[in-house]
Parts: sequence; C-alpha cells; structure tokens
Amino acid sequence: MHQEQQNLVDQAITSRHSVRAFSSTPVETQLIKDILTVASRAPSGNNIQPWKVYVVTGKKRQELTRQVCQAQIELFNHPEQAHRYQEPFKYYPEQWTSPFIERRRENGWGLYGLLDIQKGEQEKMQAQHLRNYQLFDAPVGLFFTLHTSLATGSKMDISMMIQNVMIAAKARGLDTCPQAAWNPFSSLISDILNIPHDEELVCSIALGYADLTQRVNSFHTSRLPVEDFAIFYE
Ligand SMILES: Cc1cc2nc3c(=O)[nH]c(=O)nc-3n(C[C@H](O)[C@H](O)[C@H](O)COP(=O)(O)O)c2cc1C
Repeated sequence: MHQEQQNLVDQAITSRHSVRAFSSTPVETQLIKDILTVASRAPSGNNIQPWKVYVVTGKKRQELTRQVCQAQIELFNHPEQAHRYQEPFKYYPEQWTSPFIERRRENGWGLYGLLDIQKGEQEKMQAQHLRNYQLFDAPVGLFFTLHTSLATGSKMDISMMIQNVMIAAKARGLDTCPQAAWNPFSSLISDILNIPHDEELVCSIALGYADLTQRVNSFHTSRLPVEDFAIFYE
C-alpha cells in the first residue's frame, strides 16, 4: 500500500470518534448500502458472516425512539421495574476493578464536565442518557443482531463488521456513535422491528452527519501509549 493510501486509512480510523449530536440531514439509502457492503468484507470464523442489521429511518425511527424513550422515562421514575428490561448478554462486569473503573470514571466525568453536569445532578444525567434513545438526533439507527444459536466467537465477528461500518462511514463524511444503551430494551425493539425471537440484539449505531455546533462533539478521548498495553518478545 502506498504512503498516501496508508495515511487515508489511518486518518479514517483515528478521526472516528463517538458523535453525540447529529444534524437532521438525511442519509441516502444507497450510501447506507455502500457502507454495509464495504463493512461486510469483515472477516468471520469460517466465513459464516453471522451479522444481521436492521436499518431504521423515517417513521419507523420516530416510532422506535418514541416508545423506547417512554420506556426509559418510566424506568427513571420506577427503577424497581428494571427487571422488565433485560439485556441479552452482559456487556459490562457487575463488579468493576482497577484499572478499568478509573478509566470508566475518567471517561464519564470528562463527558459530563464538558456538558456542565456535576456530581449528583441526576436530572441532567438522565436527560443526557435519554439522548441515546433519540439516537442523538441521528436520522439513521443501525441495530445489529446475531442468531441465538451462535457462540461467543460470533460477537468478535460482528464487532469487526461494526467497526468497519464506522470507518467506512467516516471515510464518506458521516459520523457514528456505537450504543449499548439500547440493549436492555431489546425485547421492545424486537417487537417494534419484527426481529425474530431467535435473534439477539448485540449493539446499535447512531449514523448521520455530525452537528459541529454542539459542544458535546468536541469530546475526544485519550488512549494508552503502546508500551502500556503491548508486550514485545524477540
Ligand atoms: C460497544 C460500545 C457501546 C457503546 N455504548 C455507548 C452508549 O450507549 N452511549 C454512548 O454515549 N456511548 C457509547 N459508546 C461509546 C464509548 O463511550 C466510546 O467509544 C469511548 O468512550 C471511546 O471514545 P471514542 O469512541 O470517541 O473514541 C459505546 C462504545 C462501544 C464500543
């Protein structure tokens, strides 16, 4: 690969970040298809290509965001109802340990700090959390599922495909936010989107054009230096 191409690939990867405010500019269906076509070149064990994607726009998007926002508001008011909303699999540990808990806190408070949300300001935190279920105003929601007969390995396959979607989108001037926030509402989402019962929701992506006037989009996260996570043997 030539230096110029390398730079373009690196730029698409390193310029991707989670965007949490989108403009209402619609995304052409053909563009979404192009992104998914490119992304589907992701590898998968035995090339089983386990991913399925539900592409949600227009009226269906309105219906979905309205119903899930309503469910989340009910949950804010009645936290004892949490058992009704089960995520299909545990994305996060029940018990956080170091160093992950510190990184998680740094990330959370970094975002809240930018949004002027202080510790204890529950209503502001809830309002920001609710933005997830409005897809941060993105015109497109992508909901990724796997067949329930598959094993944990398929989550690796679909994750590679999802990353490809985000990079292919970035290369086309679009932005994304991966979202696990929808997972607890998977059965409600399945009802609304007619997702078969033998499929489970893995992750969602908000897709659209970033609203660059919104402060939340100036949030950029850090990464550890290579020496802190890679061990070299010779
Ligand atoms: C699988 C997955 C689920 C995520 N879920 C959410 C989410 O529900 N809401 C949100 O605002 N960000 C979500 N994020 C975004 C992360 O917070 C973000 O990727 C991380 O802080 C690194 O920042 P960056 O994406 O800007 O590089 C998720 C990321 C991943 C990979």
